[in-house]
Amino acid sequence: MCGIVGYIGERQAASILLDGLSKLEYRGYDSAGIAVYNGEKIQMSKAKGRLKVLSELTHDGETLPGTIGIGHTRWATHGAPSDANSHPHFNESMSIAVVHNGIIENYIKIKKMLESKGYQFASDTDTEVVAHLLDYYYKGNALEAITKVMHRVEGSYALGILFAEKPDTLYAVRKDSPLIVGKSANGNLIASDVPAVLKYTRDVYFIENEEIAVIQQDNMKFYNMYEEELTKESVKIEWDVEAAEKGGYEHFMLKEMHEQPKAVADTLSPRLKEGKIVLDELNMTEEEMKAIRKIMIVACGSAYHTGVTAKYILEGLARIPVEVDVASEFRYRNPILEEGTLVIIISQSGETADSLAALRMAKNMGSKVLAIVNVVGSSIAREADSVLYTWAGPEIAVATTKAYSAQLIAHYLLAMKLAEVRGTVTLEELAVLIEDLKRIPEQIELLLGNREKIQKFANRYVAAKDVFFIGRGIDYAISLEGSLKLKEISYIHSEAYAAGELKHGTISLIEDGTLVVALLTQEELYKKTVSNVVEVKTRGAVVLSVTNAGNTDMEKNSDYTIYIPKTNKYFTNSLAVVPLQLFAYYISIGRGCDVDKPRNLAKSVTVE
Ligand code: M6R
Repeated sequence: MCGIVGYIGERQAASILLDGLSKLEYRGYDSAGIAVYNGEKIQMSKAKGRLKVLSELTHDGETLPGTIGIGHTRWATHGAPSDANSHPHFNESMSIAVVHNGIIENYIKIKKMLESKGYQFASDTDTEVVAHLLDYYYKGNALEAITKVMHRVEGSYALGILFAEKPDTLYAVRKDSPLIVGKSANGNLIASDVPAVLKYTRDVYFIENEEIAVIQQDNMKFYNMYEEELTKESVKIEWDVEAAEKGGYEHFMLKEMHEQPKAVADTLSPRLKEGKIVLDELNMTEEEMKAIRKIMIVACGSAYHTGVTAKYILEGLARIPVEVDVASEFRYRNPILEEGTLVIIISQSGETADSLAALRMAKNMGSKVLAIVNVVGSSIAREADSVLYTWAGPEIAVATTKAYSAQLIAHYLLAMKLAEVRGTVTLEELAVLIEDLKRIPEQIELLLGNREKIQKFANRYVAAKDVFFIGRGIDYAISLEGSLKLKEISYIHSEAYAAGELKHGTISLIEDGTLVVALLTQEELYKKTVSNVVEVKTRGAVVLSVTNAGNTDMEKNSDYTIYIPKTNKYFTNSLAVVPLQLFAYYISIGRGCDVDKPRNLAKSVTVE
């Protein structure tokens, strides 16, 4: 959950490091720091707060001259956000500098050992042990010291390392935290993620677990932790640099919401050929699809919410029993994965620690694992048996919008394909579903066009204290996402409830003026949810309803009604979530929150 960068080349390193960190700030923004070798020694500057504090402190990098350096943007785990706990961390003589993304789990034991040998620590972090341990093992051979450290530490790490005695070499190491190396004519780079290097190169090496990169200005070598040299192939990154920039929008979240029609279309169209769904990426024969006895979906946060939606659709269309679990629970509950269980791991980043651990566990237990992932080449994508990519492009705002929408589409396609193969829908029904699917991008566009109406409503409720989202069936799944979106970016307490559950306790919280957002897109459950809306209205709630076009009677039961265009009952989430995203966005703006970088959060949760 931190971002690391590094540069060695013919240009001044500091400004390249700051620029790279600005693309990684989504990974954490509690503090930032850089270290640059100036020809004599390693100089460092680091500060609590956003990257702009560091930029000001270093005059955009000018105070740290030199052509080799490393940088870090932090999401605090061990040690509060502070100047002292910011990275880089050093050995006592300041001749070894380290930046780290991950957690060293056995750092207390190592710290005690080092302290007994006279080492003194300047921070509360787990990372600092790496700097001192490198010092402990370093006898002139940096690679040897690094591999010894790798054998000694437990946990996850992507490390960027500078040795003052090796001023022409940058070292990087990875275990369970993402790391890439970019190769360019003017120098080489390391980073936690591709956007940090895209300005300089599209040629990237993905570093695998327990691999070391030894990088010089015009040369790079890769080793395993036994110091054996490895051969690696670079990958050409095809994204646009602009895709990771704001492009005129005030916030990444707003831009990404507006990119949803494209994300949906890009995820959909390559899989629709001559009126049929083609999912060769599943890597499964029709016999294997027919043999699936159960689907286990595992994910975190919003990705988990798409899993909850997918349960209704896979069970409804393909008639396969589906269980959904959050990855942090699944991995520790000794789950039963019987033969014939397909495990689906959903993740935008493809690096979420709990989801990755769940994937590994499922594979060890003998299940086939399908990943639904947005970031090409990410750990989850690489380790799964097959990958269904969502083509949402880089998502920067911490609150996911377009990746969530693309994940829904991937599940619709999967459910329809399985239903077709297993004969649980007719070809005629399938053709109608496909036509409905194709309309989703323009329907989302229509809803985005209505944003001012939602903004007006949001402006009236910026001071709300508690908000309840209610719905039944797929509407409950939509409620989960609407509630998370609101709370994560506006800091308003909100909860999602299966509408029928209200009477079993929660309705006691409804009082005059409590805001309730009711989802009513499932026609067969409509009347039931209307009754729940009436119940909360009677107790003083203000109700915002989101329902299908034509349900105008909802206006007499609600204070405000938003209509979504007509679509198949299985696809309503794709439309109903849009006003909820906009609502959360405008409330967040109205409260003066940092929409793209909400407090305490990070985009990519690479620690458990
Ligand atoms: O990268 P992932 O999809 O695995 O991330 C999972 C969650 O951390 C993520 O969806 C999170 O809940 C978002 N901030 C929600 O907007």
